Amino acid sequence: MNRRTEPSLERRAIAGISDGGFDSVEKRAAASASSTPATSALADSFNGLPGHVWPRNARRQDDGVVTVAGVPLPEIAETYGTPVFVVDEDDFRSRCRDMAEAFGGGHNVHYASKAFLTRTIARWIDEEGLSLDVASLGELQVALAAGFPASRITVHGNNKTDTLLRASVTAGVGHVVLDCAEEIGRLSAIAVEEGVVQEVLVRVKPGIEAHTHEFIATSHEDQKFGFSLASGSAHAACLAAVDAENLKLVGLHCHVGSQVFDAQGFSLAAERLLGLMGELKRDLDPEDASAAVSILDLGGGYGIAYTEGQDPLDVPEVAATLLREVTTHAESLGLTPPELLVEPGRAIAGPSTVTVYTVGTVKDVHTAQDSTRRYLSVDGGMSDNIRPALYQAEYEGRVVNRFVDGEGISTRVVGSHCESGDILLSDVIYPDDITAGDLLAIAGTGAYCYAMSSRYNMFTRPAVVTVRAGRTRLMLRRETLDDLLSLEDGQF
Ligand code: LLP
Repeated sequence: MNRRTEPSLERRAIAGISDGGFDSVEKRAAASASSTPATSALADSFNGLPGHVWPRNARRQDDGVVTVAGVPLPEIAETYGTPVFVVDEDDFRSRCRDMAEAFGGGHNVHYASKAFLTRTIARWIDEEGLSLDVASLGELQVALAAGFPASRITVHGNNKTDTLLRASVTAGVGHVVLDCAEEIGRLSAIAVEEGVVQEVLVRVKPGIEAHTHEFIATSHEDQKFGFSLASGSAHAACLAAVDAENLKLVGLHCHVGSQVFDAQGFSLAAERLLGLMGELKRDLDPEDASAAVSILDLGGGYGIAYTEGQDPLDVPEVAATLLREVTTHAESLGLTPPELLVEPGRAIAGPSTVTVYTVGTVKDVHTAQDSTRRYLSVDGGMSDNIRPALYQAEYEGRVVNRFVDGEGISTRVVGSHCESGDILLSDVIYPDDITAGDLLAIAGTGAYCYAMSSRYNMFTRPAVVTVRAGRTRLMLRRETLDDLLSLEDGQF
């Protein structure tokens, strides 16, 4: 468990019954007493799988083995090796449906594919009736390769190349989100050449400081995305888009940041963008066919619980509030309420997945405070999860091949890379009976882990498997040495 977030018994009990049918703390304790008795409160807690952090279909069996969708994680580790990402397909799909229900239908929800994309994921998104947001040529190409309908794709990027713009226009994407002034002319020229009228949104920075890590806050002034509302450049960009040949301005976009827990940022952003919509209504000719500003895209950012002590953002509640506020505010400005779109990535993909590692070296290190810290090394690390190193992100791990019953010891879970900053869990109290060969799973790794993975130290990327109703499927195979060598061209 995490040192800084001692959960209350109530919190764990609530988690136990409210999300996905997890066993209550009491039931878990009884189960463990009947097979492998837990000897400490810490071990009892450590053996639990809080429902707001772990995949909806994760369970611990009476023998201590953790299953996801009925598949024992040790079995997956045996078949596919470790580290391995395990995606609970029903969890992923159910979060798509939750989002669609909250925001009035799948067409209003654009899954942010940067969180994690494969052709399989694109197919799931399509089957669940959601739309897709891509932010690069690669993401666009993978989506199209999956047969994802181009008309339900939105294209983002602060530095879109002509290649990306042309590929978007010729594929027939629904929307391109304009991010800088010179892009307007380039996109217009391409649309004219291709004989297409391209619908566009203008990305606005409403000047909101999201309370999240500096690197993932994207709506304040001093950053690279979009047009400033305060300076008037967003307004000017909208007029330029309307004037540009073969472009049709259909809405405004913003994204306040990622892993956001304070929903007021979304409300404030909506209010500011509606203000701009009001100005545009005043300035634009209602007969002008190149403008029909009817979309308000508020981006993604819905925060999830990575540890037991965190609460995920209550999406249905946030959605209901936003929809109500947008309607009221639009009407007070004399506007027809716009269609509200959102672009969640993490809140759909994140909680569906765990990464299973094998524990290797266990080393007790004397720290400067004259105490001991145990270093548990696992067989992956910053190459499959850069988030702790990049954002000081916190995670939660559990031994998944058995019950543990040791006493608490100050622990750091580290990877196998040649770098002391290769830390996955920085400061946790773990039972002291975790040993080499145990399987340690880390929860909440479905978003921005594989997507941001690297081959540092010539590590090969892990396999990704999906589980559903007791069956396992390989989504991405593990990279091999041949994959690494195959990039080398010619003689060496
Ligand atoms: N829409 C836009 C325009 C975005 O830039 C992003 C994320 C999203 C939607 C999805 O945000 P989400 O719902 O997933 O929070 N690598 C960082 C996150 C960077 C997100 C960048 N943009 C991390 O690992 O936390």
